[in-house]
This record gives sequence, structure tokens and C-alpha cells, in this order.
Amino acid sequence: MELPGQAASYWTEISRPEFAPLAGGAKVDVAIIGGGWVGLLTADLLKRAGRTVAVLEARRVAAQVTGHTTAKLTSLHSLIYAELIRTVGETTARLYGEANEAGIRYVEQLAGERGIDCDFARVSAYSYSEDGQKLAAIHEEVEAALRLGLPASFVAGPPLPFAVAGAVCFENQARFHPLKFLMPIAAGIPGDGSHVFEQTRVFDVEPGNPHRVLTDGGTVWARDVVIATNLPFTLLGLHFARVFPKRHALLASRLAAGTLPEGMFISVDEPTFSIRPHPDPRGDVLITVGPAFKTGQGDTYAAFRALERFTRERFQVEEVLWRWGNQDYYSPDRIPLIGKLSVTTRRMYVATGFSAWGLANGAAAAQVLSDHILERPNPWAEMYDATRYRLRVTGKALLSENFEVGKGWLRDHVNTWRLKDVCDVSRGEGAVCRHHGVPVAVYKAEDGSNHYLSPFCPHLGCMVSWNSAEKSWDCPCHGSRFSAQGELLEGPSVRDLERRSEE
Ligand code: FES
Repeated sequence: MELPGQAASYWTEISRPEFAPLAGGAKVDVAIIGGGWVGLLTADLLKRAGRTVAVLEARRVAAQVTGHTTAKLTSLHSLIYAELIRTVGETTARLYGEANEAGIRYVEQLAGERGIDCDFARVSAYSYSEDGQKLAAIHEEVEAALRLGLPASFVAGPPLPFAVAGAVCFENQARFHPLKFLMPIAAGIPGDGSHVFEQTRVFDVEPGNPHRVLTDGGTVWARDVVIATNLPFTLLGLHFARVFPKRHALLASRLAAGTLPEGMFISVDEPTFSIRPHPDPRGDVLITVGPAFKTGQGDTYAAFRALERFTRERFQVEEVLWRWGNQDYYSPDRIPLIGKLSVTTRRMYVATGFSAWGLANGAAAAQVLSDHILERPNPWAEMYDATRYRLRVTGKALLSENFEVGKGWLRDHVNTWRLKDVCDVSRGEGAVCRHHGVPVAVYKAEDGSNHYLSPFCPHLGCMVSWNSAEKSWDCPCHGSRFSAQGELLEGPSVRDLERRSEE
């Protein structure tokens, strides 16, 4: 059965400026790989500090993770502060809260200074439970957050049209339109030796002085390099083995007049769902998110259906207008990795592992990264340190996630004889099977033609699986994704799936 709504993100519907690809080469102070939230905010800060920058975006700026977000600017990250105090200590937990509160203020300040109309509004955020089993954890979170100086309170009845046992409330958080905010920022970067290049894929960085950033449009020479892709493509720093991908289903729906809730909400029950309204001149919309699932594993179609059921059961939905998916990388200690790429590299920086809370954290990340490059102290640099290994806190999760990845890789390579010998696929669907005795990923287009691809991900060789809801090939190991015809959608891979002969 057809999924409801148009298969596109609500945020990317607005008209956006285009930037030409790199043609030839460029020399700048700082090359920023990834034209999303962190990349563009970092570029903006550095340009204002007098540096020349080149933002290198493989597709369109702000169209990937930033263009597929829930767009909540908040320091209330489900339930996190009681856990952080227990695992990494009160000082680190306090810095985490402060950095996120500062991230919200930074966006508000930039929007105000530049007169950006981005639907910014201060609203309350709530983490709620429907069944009451998490009430003790909710009370504990309120106490922990208050201890850290955050604007927390317990609310028995958050403004939702269904019964809730209780919630943590953070006042004075914010919602906004991420692309309406970011597009004027992006448009202000080119000029005076700085650039934004779209449709420019980076294949590699050769460290040096300056570094050489190799792209499909030429080479960029830069003294500093920032990798602000969702997950770095480089193996340096081993981030692919330190953060883990999950996808979420999202819907934007139009509700019956007068039934839109005021605020932003996330359930702390399992599965988790997130809710936030957004004003729209064509009629306000409600964005709902969840449940999360491991990329390349699980039934993506069922995830969208579960989200639709959740939304329709709790709100008066007139029509589901848009549906899309988003991918986040989760850090085992729940704190993003921001700063130096590795202990052995010089003047190379990274931001990854935002654990689905990338906007307020990301605004703080831009300040941390630019301060590293400008050699200025930053109060949050140590807390986010990307070279940290808190093995007491993260060791078990790192071991178990990487063990599963290794086990899956081995299974996929040893068990290829178990694949079906007949590639019988419905129109518009894909499957991994054997064709002339060789493993293939086959997609049958709506016109009945078959597209044969290698099922092995070019990143580190895991076997991709078919994502029926989003019509893509997804890698379960580190989250690379490819279109039905094998074109790279998101890394860490930097190459398409290899095409296989149809004979
Ligand atoms: Fe690493 Fe596919 S993303 S093997």
C-alpha cells in the first residue's frame, strides 16, 4: 500500500539559491567539507574573522541532514542530564547544557542582527511519558537539570491533546525554519576570496602544509580543513567505528483548524516519537518523527506506518502532506565529537556524532571549530574533544556495535551462497540475490527494466540492503546510502555502487 504524503522534506520546499561547482581549483585559508548546518555556520564565523573559506558540498547546501531535521533548537535532549552527571560528571554535564543554551541564543542573535525571517520563536520543550513508568526518571531529570542551572520544571499536563503521565519542561527553547535561516548565511559567504561550491564531491584529503583536498572538480589547497559531513569519509580518527547510524521516519501533516499544540515534545517511552508544530501561511503543519531504526536493518516501510498510526491516533489529521527520512550518528556517551580530527593530524577538524540533537549543539560546534582554527580558547572545546576515548563509559557500546558490524561483514561475505538464485522483484522494488551465480543488488524500475549493482558497499565492503520506503540501498555498517540505481546519496562512502552487467 502507498505511503501517505509527498516523498520530500517539508523544509526543502522553499526556493534556494544555487552555487556553481568547483571547476579547476582554489586556494583558501580553510576548506570546509560539507555544506550543512555546522559547515556553513563555521564558514560564516571564519569569514567574518578575516579568513578565506571554501565550502565543498557534494550535492546541494543544507539539503541533507539539515534539510531533513525536526528543527528543534533546544538543550532538552530527551532525558540526558541525570545520565551525564552519572557517567561523565557534573562539570561536563553543565558545560553540555550551557553550550546548547548558547547555541540557541547564537541562532537568535544572528537572525536578529541580519534581519533573517526564519519563523524563529521561543517556545517550551517537553520530554513526556504516556505510561507513567518513566515518572521517576522524569523527576530525576528535572532535579539534575535544575542543579546544572537549566530552565527545568515538572509539568503534570503538557499542552498535548492526549493523556500524559508527566513531563520535563524546559522554558524558552526555540523553533525555526532551518533553511530560511541558513540560506541567507550561505549566500553571504562567496566573495573576497571565499566560495561555496555545490555538486562538488571530495574524494580525499592529502595532509600537508597546505592540505590538498581532492574533489571531482579539482584540488583545493588549504591550511586548515574542517570535515563537517554527517560522518567523516576519511579513516583517520576512526570515527566510523566510534559513532553509529540510525534513521528516523518523519511526517508533516495538516491538522484540523485550532488543534495544533503549542510547544515541542518528545516521548521518553519506547518507541520514541517526537512532535513539533510549524507555522505555514498555507496552513500550519505538525511534524512528527519516529521510531528510530538502525540504518540498513529493519522494515522501513513499517516505521513510516507506525509513525502515521501514532500521528493519526493522537491528532486530528486532515492530510499527511510530506514524508521523509533522516539519518543521525550516535555517540556512545551522547556527546558529539567536535574538534581535532585525530591526535596524529594537524590543522584538520571534525564534527560528528550529534546523536539526533545537532542544531543547538551544531551552533556551538561552529564556535568550537572556528576558535580552534583562530587559535582562541573555547569553554566547550574539551567537553566536545573529538579525540577523547571515555572507555569506562563507552567501551561496552563500542565493542558491541563494532562486533555486530564485523559479524555482519563476515556473514555477508561467507554466506553469499544462501542468496536466492532467482531475482524476482516487483516493479519499484529491489532485492539482493544471485544473478549468473554472482551476488547482485537488483532494482526493477517502474518500466520493468532491471538495474544490476554490486551489493557490496564501496566504503568497507558490507552488503547493502533495500530500503523499501525510501527506495534506496542502505549499508548497515556505517550508514552509506545509495539511490535505487546506485548513485551515492550519503557517505562515508565517496563512490557509487559499482554497476554490474545485465547479461
Ligand atoms: Fe562502511 Fe558501508 S558504510 S561499509
